Amino acid sequence: MRKPFIAGNWKMNMTRESGLALVRGLMEKLQGTSSQIDVAVCPPSVYLQEISSALKGSAIGVGGQNMYHEADGAFTGEVSGPMLCDLHCQYVILGHSERRQFFGETDSSVNKKTHAALKFGLTPIVCVGEMLSERESGATAQVIDTQVRGSLAGLTPEQASKIVIAYEPVWAIGTGKTATPAQAEEVHAQIRGLLTELFGKSVSDVIRIQYGGSVKPDNAGELMSQPNIDGALVGGASLKADSFAAIVLASCGLAAAK
Ligand code: PGA
Repeated sequence: MRKPFIAGNWKMNMTRESGLALVRGLMEKLQGTSSQIDVAVCPPSVYLQEISSALKGSAIGVGGQNMYHEADGAFTGEVSGPMLCDLHCQYVILGHSERRQFFGETDSSVNKKTHAALKFGLTPIVCVGEMLSERESGATAQVIDTQVRGSLAGLTPEQASKIVIAYEPVWAIGTGKTATPAQAEEVHAQIRGLLTELFGKSVSDVIRIQYGGSVKPDNAGELMSQPNIDGALVGGASLKADSFAAIVLASCGLAAAK
């Protein structure tokens, strides 16, 4: 019922040239997979134009890593939803833990951005996740509950059916420490339950929930086989065509060697 979705979050990495080489490699390695899995890359905004053009006609989608909630105006340094659409983005990552940690984003700003992204026709990938201290003090469920409710406040069920959620435990991001499939599934199941409470079962059944945090070719398959894990948001391993393609292929049940 839910088509798996793997997105690569390049963060503040790559050059114009290495980014182009990466997407050319991905187009070659991922041919013929689009009926089984959705794939997107999220480059830094300065490279969106070039990467979008290179991917034109391929099944690989493009997303921004952030946006501001206003359409235009005096907001120095920001990028808007219509600008992302102008560069053929279909997706935008919102509320990534690095944005929350280093750039002061809150559930309330993420909520405004989520409404704006939907208004402009972008699919928001709304990120939630607990810090290590929160997990250790037993607060994970409460943190996730607050983030999901706050980030999605005011959405209609119809709007909610269009979003993607990424559960990314902060302690697993870029650390090489992946949540075990059981740890991840426990939180994914909690999020699914919350979505059912907020938007009804038929909507909650179609919302894809990605896992993120040190996803690699050798752990992707097991994570993806959990009932409520519908894909991955991949950082470090998305920067090389071999490892990102291997994650995609493992996730759609094909051998990475194919
Ligand atoms: P990572 O990053 O795969 O490098 O842990 C994931 C993310 O932050 O989206």
